[in-house]
Amino acid sequence: MKLEKQSVVIAGGGSTYTAGIVMMLIENQDKFPLRKLKFYDNNEERQSIVARACEVIVKERAPEIEFLATTDPEEAFTDVDFVMAHIRVGGLSMREKDEKIPLKYGVVGQETCGPGGMAYGMRSIPGVIELIDYMEKYSPNAWMLNYSNPAAIVAEATRRMRPNAKIINICDMPVAIKKSIADIVGLESESEIVDRYYGLNHFGWWTEMTDKQGNDLVPKLKEHVAKYGYAAAGDEENPLLEESSWMDTFQKAKDVYAIDPTTVPNTYLKYYLYPDYVVAHANPNYTRANEVMDNREKNVFAECERIAAAQTAEDTTIEAGEHAEFIVQLAGALAYNTYERMLLIVKNEGAIANLDDDAMVEVPCIVSKRGYEPLCMGKIPHFQKGMIEQQVAVEKLVVDAFEEKSYQKLWQAMTLSKTVPSASVAKQILDEMIEANTEWWPELN
Ligand code: NAD
Ligand code: LMR
Repeated sequence: MKLEKQSVVIAGGGSTYTAGIVMMLIENQDKFPLRKLKFYDNNEERQSIVARACEVIVKERAPEIEFLATTDPEEAFTDVDFVMAHIRVGGLSMREKDEKIPLKYGVVGQETCGPGGMAYGMRSIPGVIELIDYMEKYSPNAWMLNYSNPAAIVAEATRRMRPNAKIINICDMPVAIKKSIADIVGLESESEIVDRYYGLNHFGWWTEMTDKQGNDLVPKLKEHVAKYGYAAAGDEENPLLEESSWMDTFQKAKDVYAIDPTTVPNTYLKYYLYPDYVVAHANPNYTRANEVMDNREKNVFAECERIAAAQTAEDTTIEAGEHAEFIVQLAGALAYNTYERMLLIVKNEGAIANLDDDAMVEVPCIVSKRGYEPLCMGKIPHFQKGMIEQQVAVEKLVVDAFEEKSYQKLWQAMTLSKTVPSASVAKQILDEMIEANTEWWPELN
């Protein structure tokens, strides 16, 4: 069957992930053929570093694709079938503040978890809403696949503020974990794993896992996780784990698992269940943002500049990321009706039976031309239900705070987070966050 060619705009063209996504798109021209590929960003200088290299890559490897980079929304969003969005409002320099301010008060400083995630959420909401509005104005039939973080808060905001938008919020963390799981249980690829999983973004648990023949993978997996977490023999090949902070996170899954050995956990739960450990092992002067700036950002941009200067990408070190693989698979399922099973962040509506309908949950869905259909995960136990309800309330309070410009609601959100010990600590962090975010947040009253 001949597949219809698609037009894609990558929003956040200057992202450190863009070149890897372009590589993945080019490698998948048989499964997801493109007629047009566009980049959109609101920072021309940053985007042009990546765009100049990607222009060379496209010309060399898939010259039939029309390529364009622009900061003009009309040009970017007109005639597109998919918007792949990964913006970072405020950039890595604001991420550094999200991480360092809480740490000053002995609280987890993290991109998506705790007060740092809430601060980032308050910045991301208007940025993502603006992208939806551009898409609806210039290409009303397109789908937006959004992986701008913090995905949980962004998903709650888009559910409320743009309820009819064709947006799907996604996260590649479960895919990255499943890559390690495939190594642990001896499968070639994570795509051979069929799973049942429930929770929120960066806040979930697996209950079942089989291979495509239906063989249970869980006993072998649990034996391994109890001893080593998700650290696995194949880790040298997992680019994420080249960085030491990620290796630690994968190993710490052992202790997260110990709390409930009937399930296997998402790695991010360590921030909520072992915040004291996380803070004790953090360097308040050098956080993940510094690690990303000194490694991924520096390396990707240097390689892009090298390609642009040489006008060839023949021997490039840029690889198609696993992050990208998931997005291409999802876009393919929507475009070509593959009925693939994928973990997405969607409105609960009964998928977790004993949780509010309007919570944004992460569960397996069947994806086709019709969109996505969540699978029912049934009732969940007290431990997970208690944790999830607390975290849902935090996320909803952040969106309330944004919509109502409410200091009170954001203070409640920070107080309620499992990562924060008291209302007084929450207030101190919030007050400093407000100072740091004057350029980005609505003025709170
Ligand atoms: P980055 O800072 O390198 O790139 C983000 C780009 O977005 C920048 O070029 C910036 O100029 C642009 N941008 C910011 N605000 C914008 C706006 N309002 N409109 C248009 N462009 C805007 O960031 P990164 O490290 O590459 O990460 C990008 C995003 O992807 C982050 O939100 C990150 O958390 C997210 N991410 C998500 C997943 C996932 O699976 N959900 C995984 C990894 C990263
Ligand atoms: C990022 O890649 O910047 C994050 O989204 C995850 C990480 O590396 O901390």
